[in-house]
Amino acid sequence: MAGPAIDATTAAMAVDPLRGRRILLAVTGSIAAVKAPSLVTRLQARGAEVRCLLSPSAERLVSPVALACLSRHPCACENDQWQHGQPRPLHIDLAEWADLVLLAPLSAATLARLVHGQADQLLASTLLARPASCPLVAAAAMNTDMWLAPAVQRNWARFDAEPGVLPLPPAATGLLACDRRGPGRMVEPALLELAVASVLARGVRRDLVGRSLVVTAGPTREAIDPARFLSNPSSGRMGVLLAQAARLRGARVVLIHGPLQVDPAWLEGLECQAIVSAADLEQALALNAPGADAVLMAAAVADQRWRHPDPAKAPKQALQQRLADAASWEAVPDLLQQLVARRSPGQVLLGFAAHTGDVLPQARAKLSRKGCDLLFANPIDAPGAGFGSETNAGWLLDAGGAVEAIGPCSKLSLAHRLLDAVAARWNQAPVLSAGSATEAGGSSSSSMNVLS
Ligand code: CTP
Repeated sequence: MAGPAIDATTAAMAVDPLRGRRILLAVTGSIAAVKAPSLVTRLQARGAEVRCLLSPSAERLVSPVALACLSRHPCACENDQWQHGQPRPLHIDLAEWADLVLLAPLSAATLARLVHGQADQLLASTLLARPASCPLVAAAAMNTDMWLAPAVQRNWARFDAEPGVLPLPPAATGLLACDRRGPGRMVEPALLELAVASVLARGVRRDLVGRSLVVTAGPTREAIDPARFLSNPSSGRMGVLLAQAARLRGARVVLIHGPLQVDPAWLEGLECQAIVSAADLEQALALNAPGADAVLMAAAVADQRWRHPDPAKAPKQALQQRLADAASWEAVPDLLQQLVARRSPGQVLLGFAAHTGDVLPQARAKLSRKGCDLLFANPIDAPGAGFGSETNAGWLLDAGGAVEAIGPCSKLSLAHRLLDAVAARWNQAPVLSAGSATEAGGSSSSSMNVLS
């Protein structure tokens, strides 16, 4: 690949942000506490060192012995506080040990303790004693009515505004331990792992609060007949991670996606619209793109489609003849070019360019042909940079001619870098979304809140 070299600093970003980091898993009294052992295993599998801390209610729901065995550390429980064998106060020791605290699940009672500074238990004391440099990722879980109670919502809004805290509201719906369906279920461990990786890689950032993004992801499928279609190997991973990274930074995100090969838990909290064909995608973009502050086109749109998909499955021989007939095919319209033609003032448009061989000249030509603001040129034949891989590498080109080498790095790190570039372009233009006010820094509104 010709072009600016991929330097050592960006290569270092390829290291998993969890590797070698100390994570304190704090568990409180919600039935979701039973997921703690699987959280420990997940975080450890990524190379993190994990210690566990249980509230008195959590001790009744999950075994401290199991957590000690899995984490290879004693599990801290309420009665361990102020023991004569403990030379330093345990809550200070634990708070100072951690690089990050994952509070999952977070009950209404502990939420109230944290918001009101009530240090009457080992767990609450530890969290209140954590240094400002130690971020907190907290996943609420409780009964629907309890979650919707005005007092809990008031506490949540205050918690949401605290610096260094990434609060994850419960999933918008799901079956609860009380047999209800509704908001209250803790987000899945896979999404918690993603949130932890995001915070360890880039800190708690809420700079996209008030912004509205449309992200497209995955392949399109162009039907030939009921049994066959034309498509590509896109897994959708890059687009979904872009969408989640933006949501974790406070944006409202509509994800328009083709058939995905990612953990479904990664879709939680996004406004998802499933599509199949390029025509579906075109329709969904027409509805959602106007008014969005940015459209990020990570979808791998098919280039050709069958003019008239057959309602019946064609026998093999007839199929061969039909495929060879050029008149049966038509080019798929360029959706990114359409967006450029209809864009609203200040809207930022980012495209991807999948290429093999000498990537940069092809990407430059594509950027000027499509007319978008930013284009990430993706060498799909480079090791660790192609479809479905966990990492990516390439070049970010902007319409002004600047080129930046990025990676190899995790797709999550790349997602954050691309969002930085989008945000940098907004800084030169007015905010589009109605009601948006806050830019960089403080989180004022709870854009991840299922109630908002
Ligand atoms: N794209 C699009 N509509 C299409 C094809 C692609 O909006 N019909 C978008 C993709 O989502 C991506 C960018 O355009 O953001 C580039 O896609 P890519 O497949 O690399 O390029 P193509 O336009 O298909 O051109 P080529 O296949 O010749 O490289």
